[in-house]
Amino acid sequence: MARERILSIRDLAVSFRTTAGVVHAVRGVSFDLYRGETVAIVGESGSGKSVTAKTLMGISSRNSTIESGTELFTYTDEKGQKVTRDILKMTTKEIRHEINGRRIAMVFQDPMTSLNPLMPVGRQIMEGMIWHYHTPKEEAAKKALELMNLVGITDAEKRFKNYPHQLSGGMRQRIVIAIALACDPDLLICDEPTTALDVTIQAKILELIRKIQKERQLSVIYITHDLGVVAKVADYVNVMYAGRIIESGTVDEIFYDAKHPYTWGLLSAMPDLETDDDRLYAIPGSPPNLLYPVKGDAFAPRNRYALKIDSRVEPPMFRVTDTHYAATWLLHPKAPKIGMPEELAKRVKRLLKDAERLEEGRMSAEAIATGAMAGAVAEGREVSADQSAPKEMTEEPGTNKPAGMLTPEEAVATRSAENASRRRKHSSPCGDGRKEGGV
Ligand SMILES: Nc1ncnc2c1ncn2[C@@H]1O[C@H](COP(=O)(O)OP(=O)(O)OP(=O)(O)O)[C@@H](O)[C@H]1O
Ligand SMILES: [Mg+2]
Repeated sequence: MARERILSIRDLAVSFRTTAGVVHAVRGVSFDLYRGETVAIVGESGSGKSVTAKTLMGISSRNSTIESGTELFTYTDEKGQKVTRDILKMTTKEIRHEINGRRIAMVFQDPMTSLNPLMPVGRQIMEGMIWHYHTPKEEAAKKALELMNLVGITDAEKRFKNYPHQLSGGMRQRIVIAIALACDPDLLICDEPTTALDVTIQAKILELIRKIQKERQLSVIYITHDLGVVAKVADYVNVMYAGRIIESGTVDEIFYDAKHPYTWGLLSAMPDLETDDDRLYAIPGSPPNLLYPVKGDAFAPRNRYALKIDSRVEPPMFRVTDTHYAATWLLHPKAPKIGMPEELAKRVKRLLKDAERLEEGRMSAEAIATGAMAGAVAEGREVSADQSAPKEMTEEPGTNKPAGMLTPEEAVATRSAENASRRRKHSSPCGDGRKEGGV
């Protein structure tokens, strides 16, 4: 089946006026998103991930300016016609009526900031349906209950009348996801949706998002700084640095054949089974101050593989495959042949090996576990303290790791095993406009 492109972002640039000067936060971002697929945006803090996403919802700070770009979004209107509109050219009112919450919905990092503390959660799920579609109250309430069940809230009828503070963090984030799904959007933007949650709940929320995504053919933009999470949720990855996408590719291409030294740095910083916390790698230095113009490759000062040209000329996106592009002069035909560091390549291979082992272990553990027990434990972990399952049920014997919780390595493991079985042909996630660069 042909892939259906629903979003095409080209050359997006956003700046902010501050008392210190103009911050060039997003400096020419381009990527595409297809129906039913997930693109992860990954990068260090301040790289422009959230600013990029917020432009799609028409959320902008007063001091921001869209300097350039197009965001073509394709959806089906009330008459059943396919419409393509440039979100950046729509008025705030149009975005509120046509896009925001209705066709594009967003899940933020902290559920408390998205929820109204003074309104029962069921009512909050109903709001969007009533506002956008004038759904009668009774019908909206029925649909809200269905959504609460869909996102895995037990005892939904009772929880319907609860206020946000009466729910655990995981439950609150499930409510936020239910609100996001209420108007049946085409695109879900998740901005670090599990970061504020207890680690024991993260994996369950990720699983939920993937399950719903598959069932509803939702397209997802998943923002995170955690490559372990990327491995679990994404089809494609855009790596952002200093307001630009500096590498993009399929999950396999980014994990096992990364070309940009910054991506190598991010991969090296991922913990694995043999690295304890205090030996974790951190990329030396810090990102550039975007108050000042970037000369050459923004990553050059932190890049031990930097070439002379890096200090003068910003690298273009070089094509590696139809789906894989990277902005590093190392890919120029005349550049010295420098590839992924041997140690890192070995480490990734080790992760692959662990992947097979853990996948086998997980499958046999699942075969042993009874469904009833697994279900009780899974739900017990997220209900409020008065209902929570006994500690011995929520932890795997002999470890401090909660049952069912995936470590980043296990996430990579699970994902790469899945990837192996579903390698597909894709066209470029970075768009058609990309050209191979030259010196
Ligand atoms: N309203 C604003 N005024 C001034 N600068 C801003 C404003 N909003 C964002 N920025 C700047 O834009 C840059 C990108 O911010 P953004 O929030 O997109 O980062 P991010 O990649 O989402 O980081 P994080 O992982 O910390 O969420 C940062 O340097 C940030 O300080
Ligand atoms: Mg952010």
